[in-house]
Amino acid sequence: MKIEASAPSNIALIKYMGKSSAQNNMPTNASLSFTLEHLRSFVTLELAHDRDQWAPLEGLPEIKLSDSGQAKFLNHFARLKEQWKIPAHYTVRSANNFPADCGLASSASSFAALTLAVYELAKRMSLTPELGQVELSRLSRLGSGSSCRSLFSPWALWRDDGAEKSAIGWHLDHAVILVSEGKKQVSSSQAHIRVSNSLLYNGRSERAEARLSELTSALQARSWRQCFELCWSEFQDMHALFETSRPAFGYMTSESQRVLAHLRQIWQETDDGPLVTMDAGANIHLLIRPEQSARA
Ligand code: DP6
Repeated sequence: MKIEASAPSNIALIKYMGKSSAQNNMPTNASLSFTLEHLRSFVTLELAHDRDQWAPLEGLPEIKLSDSGQAKFLNHFARLKEQWKIPAHYTVRSANNFPADCGLASSASSFAALTLAVYELAKRMSLTPELGQVELSRLSRLGSGSSCRSLFSPWALWRDDGAEKSAIGWHLDHAVILVSEGKKQVSSSQAHIRVSNSLLYNGRSERAEARLSELTSALQARSWRQCFELCWSEFQDMHALFETSRPAFGYMTSESQRVLAHLRQIWQETDDGPLVTMDAGANIHLLIRPEQSARA
């Protein structure tokens, strides 16, 4: 029996950065994301002989998961097997249709796809009742926090232990300015821990929550400029935490800075432009109104 599952990535406009419980991936503030249906991870499960193991899934760009990356993935697999009392060993194969580990949030889509694959396996073996997306999201969170938002579309709101579909109904287009495909030096899991000694960490959750409520209203009212300003200050706030941690670290390159300056200039000159955000990486995500894409 071969199980196959797939899940999309997501880009947070209000960021999950900082945990109140590192073990359980409990966030210090709520986050809001847009689901990236075209950036997907794929996972297959097949019976293996003597142990659970990970391997790249063929037919898509090959990912090279580090030892710690494989361990994190297989730990989540073990947790889910335990949850549903799944016996036997499996080969877990995974791949993305986009580059991994460079700020395109491959951990969100891959952990969400793994959660869905193991749930499918448990269902086929009659080891679980039907579960709702919110319950699956809580389980996925335990593997990697941001993955809990990938189960909802087009917008997901994650507060406390799991995400839910957000009432925002605006469908936007997404593009990435791929500044670098290089591997990150500091993983986002490490970043969550390291930011806690920044002096700017004081008040971070309050700032994020205040922006969340303003951004939700702005998205509902379709106040595009206000959305841009809130998204801009939010990712800059997160990157300022990185740069003011001790020791400091960062992801922006001179090319990221150059592109950001250009995007700001577009807004200044035309009073319009894309929503701009960045994850823990050098690449720049843009969200665009469909009518803007049609004009381009
Ligand atoms: C910068 O979900 O990768 O992308 O829970 O430790 O696996 P773990 O962290 P992860 O953190 C993502 C952080 C972020 C912002 C976001 O997606 O909200």
